[in-house]
Amino acid sequence: MAETILMKGQLVDFTGDPFAAPLAECTRIEAHGALVIRGGQILDRGPVDRITAAYPRARVVDYGQGLILPGFIDAHVHFPQTAMIASWGKRLIDWLNTYTFPEETRFADPDYAAEIAARYLDLTTANGTTSMVSFCTIHPAGVEAFFAEAARRGQRVVGGRTCMDRNSPDGLRDTAQSAYDESRALLEKWHGQERISYAITPRFSPTSTPDQLAALGALWAEHPDCLMQTHLSEQTDEIDWVRSLYPQARDYLDTYEQHGLLGANGLYGHAIHLEPREIDRLREVGAAVVHCPTSNTFIGSGLFDMAGLKAQGLRVGLATDTGGGSNFSMLRTMAAAYEVGQLRGVALHPAQLLWLATAGSAGAIGMADRIGTLAPGSEADITVLDLGSTPAIAQRSARAGDLWEALFPTIMMGDDRAVQAVWIAGRQAIGA
Ligand code: GUN
Ligand code: ZN
Repeated sequence: MAETILMKGQLVDFTGDPFAAPLAECTRIEAHGALVIRGGQILDRGPVDRITAAYPRARVVDYGQGLILPGFIDAHVHFPQTAMIASWGKRLIDWLNTYTFPEETRFADPDYAAEIAARYLDLTTANGTTSMVSFCTIHPAGVEAFFAEAARRGQRVVGGRTCMDRNSPDGLRDTAQSAYDESRALLEKWHGQERISYAITPRFSPTSTPDQLAALGALWAEHPDCLMQTHLSEQTDEIDWVRSLYPQARDYLDTYEQHGLLGANGLYGHAIHLEPREIDRLREVGAAVVHCPTSNTFIGSGLFDMAGLKAQGLRVGLATDTGGGSNFSMLRTMAAAYEVGQLRGVALHPAQLLWLATAGSAGAIGMADRIGTLAPGSEADITVLDLGSTPAIAQRSARAGDLWEALFPTIMMGDDRAVQAVWIAGRQAIGA
C-alpha cells in the first residue's frame, strides 16, 4: 500500500472566488493544520490535532509556519522560449521575428527539445509551479519532448503543437492540412495519457490562414473536450494587422469565431485591448482569458483590466507567458498583477492573487476538480512557502497582523528561495 504522508503547517486554499464573494466565505485557512496525502491524492485535511490522532502511522513532515498551498498553475507559457527569456528591446512583432522564431526553429532537433523541456520543468518546479498550459512549436518532436518529460515527472500539463502557415520564417511554417494531421496525431497519442492533456494550438490569427484556422476549428469540433489555446488582442499594432488580414471579421475575436475557434474550452492569452462585443461574446460562450502581466509590461503591450473583466463575469487565469514574460515565478507574476492593478486604480487583495495562481487558473483550464485545491480527492500537487525566505521579507512579515499581510511581502519580493518544498503527484520534487 502507498505510504501515507502527513504534512504539518498552515493550510490555505479556496472554496470560492474571492473576486465574487467575501473573503471569509471563500477562503479556507487552517493556521495549525495538517494535510494527508497517499498514492498521489489528497486524503484528508484539518486541524493538526485531529489529523495526527486520525493517522498515527503516517510519515510526518513538519513545515513549521510554512504555508501549504496547492501547487501553482501557469495558464499560458511557451516552454520553447525558456532559453531566450528576457531578450531586450523589442515589441511584439519584432520580438517574435528577432528572438522567438529563430529560437523555435531549433526545436526541429529532438535532443535540443528534450534538453529545454527538462530545463524548463526544473526551473518551474523550483518556483513552485506544478502544472502549466504550454505552446510548443510547430515540430511534433518538441511536443513529444514536453509531454515525455512531464510524464516522466508525473506532472499534469497541457500542451499543443503551435500551428502557423504564414508570416513566419522557413522552417517554422506548416499548411492547413499538416497542422490538422500532425495536431490530430499528437492529440490521439497523448490526450488523457498519464496526466497529459492536448490543447489545439493555432498561434494567433496573423500566422494562420483562414484555411488553417478552419482546419483547427474542425479538429476542435471533433474533440470538443480538448482545450484550444491562442492569443487575442495583445498589442494595438497586432490588432491593426489582424484587421487588414481578415477584413470580413467584426473584430479580432471574430477571426476565431468564424472558424470554429470560440468556445467554453477556449483559452485566450493576453486579451488586453478588447471591444465590448468581444467581452460579451467571451462571457456568453464561457471562454477563459489569461492575464500575463510580466509579459504585458515587458513587451509593452498594455494593462489588462482584471477588475473590469471579472466584474463582467469572465473566467480569468494567470500566467507567466514565458518567455515573453520576464520570469518563471508565479510569485513574481502575482506581484506584477498587483502592480498592473495599481496602475488601473485597483488594489488586488493577496487572496485574489493567490486564487488566480491556483484555483482561478485551474478553473480557467477546466481542471478545478483535480488541481488548484487542497480538497480531499484532488491530486497531491503541493507547494510550501517559507514566508521569511530572505532578511528583507522576514523583517516585514514578522510584524504582519494576519496571514494575508504575512504572505504579501513574499508575493512582492519572493522568488524560488521562498519555495520550501514542492510535491508533484504525491512525490517530493523539491525540499528536504
Ligand atoms: N503572439 C503570438 N505568438 C506569441 C508569443 O510567442 N508570445 C507572445 N507574448 N505573444 C504572441
Ligand atoms: Zn503566448
